[in-house]
Amino acid sequence: MRTIYLDHAATSFPKPPAVGKRMQEYVETVGATVNRSSYGAAQEAGMVALRLRQRLGALFSFPDPAHVVLTPGNTWGLNMLLHGALRPGDHCLVSAMEHNAVMRPLQQMSQHGVRFERVPCDAEGCLDLRALERMLRPDTRLVLLCHASNVSGTVQDAERAGQVCAAHGVPFALDAAQTAGHLPIDFGRLGLAALSVPGHKGLMGPQGIGALILRPDFAAALEPFVSGGTGSASDSEEQPSYMPDRFESGTPNVPGIYGWEAALEYLQGVTVETVAAHDRVLAEQFLDGLQRVPGVVLYGPRTAAGRVGVFSLDFPGKDNAEAAYRLECEYGILTRCGLHCAPSAHKTLGTFPRGSVRLSFGWFTTEEEVGRALEAIAAVSAG
Ligand SMILES: Cc1ncc(COP(=O)(O)O)c(C=O)c1O
Repeated sequence: MRTIYLDHAATSFPKPPAVGKRMQEYVETVGATVNRSSYGAAQEAGMVALRLRQRLGALFSFPDPAHVVLTPGNTWGLNMLLHGALRPGDHCLVSAMEHNAVMRPLQQMSQHGVRFERVPCDAEGCLDLRALERMLRPDTRLVLLCHASNVSGTVQDAERAGQVCAAHGVPFALDAAQTAGHLPIDFGRLGLAALSVPGHKGLMGPQGIGALILRPDFAAALEPFVSGGTGSASDSEEQPSYMPDRFESGTPNVPGIYGWEAALEYLQGVTVETVAAHDRVLAEQFLDGLQRVPGVVLYGPRTAAGRVGVFSLDFPGKDNAEAAYRLECEYGILTRCGLHCAPSAHKTLGTFPRGSVRLSFGWFTTEEEVGRALEAIAAVSAG
């Protein structure tokens, strides 16, 4: 039985062939680290890291590669942002649809005097922009939104949210885990102070690497969450003030840098616009097909507009875990079942604590695979 991978919201698979190839080449023939030594191989690795920053800058219409900070992943980037920006007594607004990569640090920080509130979202996960404006306070130091939900695929109107924040002089940040590589994102147009992205989802790179892109004035006020050796200013025990070294302590994930750079070269050839159009075709096909499957409930937006290709389903009267198990064992369809590290989103959608069976599509998902998934869902629902 052929396996159909529909878990791209967790991590994209397969990767463009160049990703593994470049990582292997690096490990077997380059080996040097970045920003430490000055021999040829180390210079080459440094150039690949620079190209990666430049590609990320180009992707998000962000002009300054020095402010593209490479992180060990999106959860790290979000922690760097929250811990670096918020002090005891500060107030932070997030949406009611956040992932635990945001909620757990905030819960932890609330033990030490940071206050946070959730801006309500409707039953499809869509942010109440009026409430956002109402809930801003003089001590609000950050608004951080999940750009698209990893549960329902709901995309927030980040441009309008950015305008609200700008009108009140509050830094605005996005967790673009589910949109980076799937939808065009223009850093300046969204009025962002910070953008955190993982390498391994829509940006098609390996796990263990991500980026935190920082507006220069915001970066200047941000405290490093991790400090240590940077390979620069080694005469000093103080953390460098210049970018990106200020936020990049420790030996980086160089195989990841090579792999991600290759992934972005591929993605730039394809273009994000083409990926977005592909996602939309698949979403329309899936939503249309689902209407003809009785007994399965879809949570989140029912149209392809205002969403990414992440779909949460419920099989009423059945155990969702068993439904996911049957999808795999009987039809080869790989999904994710449960609460997807986002209890707040499930509470908003009314699916807590039952959770959902999540199907998520990527660049390499085909219409034929979506068709097979629909047939399998219908069979599991009926049987
Ligand atoms: C919306 C959202 N935010 C944050 C994360 C955390 O990303 P990572 O696990 O790559 O660090 C995820 C991962 O699924 C996510 O979907």
